[in-house]
Amino acid sequence: MTTTSIHGMWSSRLAFVLAATGSAVGLGNIWRFPYTAGEYGGGAFVIVYILCVAAIGIPIMMAEIMLGRRGRQSPINTMRTLAEREGASPLWQLLGWMGILSGFLILSFYSVIAGWTLAYVMRAAGGLFTGIDAAGSEAVFSALVGDAERLLAWHTIFMVITVIVVARGVAGGLEKAVRVLMPALFLLLIIMVLYAAQAGDFASGAAYLFQPDFRELRDNAGEAILSAMGQAFFSLSLGMGAIMIYGSYLNSQDSIMQNTIIIAVMDTLVAVLAGLAIFPIVFANGLEPGSGPGLIFQTLPIAFGQMPLGQFFGSVFFVLLVFAAWTSAISLLEPLVAWLVENRGFSRVRAAILGGVAVWLLGIACLLSLNEWSGFKVFGMGILDLFDYVTANVLLPLGGVLIAVFAGWVLSRSASAAELRIASEGLYQVWLVLIRFIAPLAVILVFAHAIGIF
Ligand code: TRP
Repeated sequence: MTTTSIHGMWSSRLAFVLAATGSAVGLGNIWRFPYTAGEYGGGAFVIVYILCVAAIGIPIMMAEIMLGRRGRQSPINTMRTLAEREGASPLWQLLGWMGILSGFLILSFYSVIAGWTLAYVMRAAGGLFTGIDAAGSEAVFSALVGDAERLLAWHTIFMVITVIVVARGVAGGLEKAVRVLMPALFLLLIIMVLYAAQAGDFASGAAYLFQPDFRELRDNAGEAILSAMGQAFFSLSLGMGAIMIYGSYLNSQDSIMQNTIIIAVMDTLVAVLAGLAIFPIVFANGLEPGSGPGLIFQTLPIAFGQMPLGQFFGSVFFVLLVFAAWTSAISLLEPLVAWLVENRGFSRVRAAILGGVAVWLLGIACLLSLNEWSGFKVFGMGILDLFDYVTANVLLPLGGVLIAVFAGWVLSRSASAAELRIASEGLYQVWLVLIRFIAPLAVILVFAHAIGIF
């Protein structure tokens, strides 16, 4: 059995944890979590979200890393090889293909939102937010989103920097960057929470996040629960093979369970901190928590505009957010690039450019859906919103179920036990029950509930 990947290996266990945390922590935590929680009323959504991370996300992340490390190839070839080895159907490789499709769709809109973040670095550094009020902040945001050419420029820049890192190999520069940037982002978020505690309506913000009001769920429970689960998959980078391919570069000796728990805890912590930084500002300024994808771009400038050294903190914050998005985007492109290298004999550089150009083109449709094409709707959503919804709430959970079924039922127990090497037999049994029954059934029940079957 191969013990290394042709695409390179992480230099240490820490490198893997950093890279996987870099993949998990991104716009999903700081942009998507607060506005999605806001759309579904806060506390109750947050509880369901945390339950999903614990009962579905953690076991599936362990499964993804385990499968990746056993296969040591792109998700498509990993699934093909492992299925073959277990005497299962070669159709399992379709899971890898579905992951490529999800990564493709996600990155196309992710890059557009990352572009907003880049644009906001300039606006913060230029002092545009100084003394701004809610109406002014909203106007800055609308002006950006309405300007297709500007969005195109930022989207292009973001795709270029993503392709550059992927072309050079994820194990190289990524490790070093994440080592510094993750702690810095953490620190800055804490500063912002402290600011929100002092200048915002912290009591209302915290209550909104942590006091579940289950009446909020009553009207729209199916959608809310589905979105909380989708957010868990999205935020943990699960269900498309990103974590799987990162697992394929992990040393055979390293503990999968321990690493997974660290990654999941960090990811959840960043999301909660982001919520604690944003909602007090929302309430102090009479803004709407459910105002949608613009939420952080409309609230944070108000805080930066008022806090001491706000111009500095604002620029640094958006720079760090760009980096967080960058380290996530890389993992969205990597499975496709690895496959092109393995099966098409492309050089890494050519594969990264080809993949990047394709995603960039699709991203143009996403950014046009915000302005020129705003009249074009599918199921009531523009293209960007549609890609976001379908990937997080449908494709990723579906990929997750298939990963769980493969890891729990198709892969032999001796293989999963040997790969996970959990010291305690009891804990291994817990994982087995979660991956065989709880995670797949939970996802299927949430799907069934959302489409109104019960
Ligand atoms: N988890 C990242 C975020 O929260 C986004 C991301 C990176 C992702 N890789 C992924 C989402 C793979 C789903 C699947 O910003």
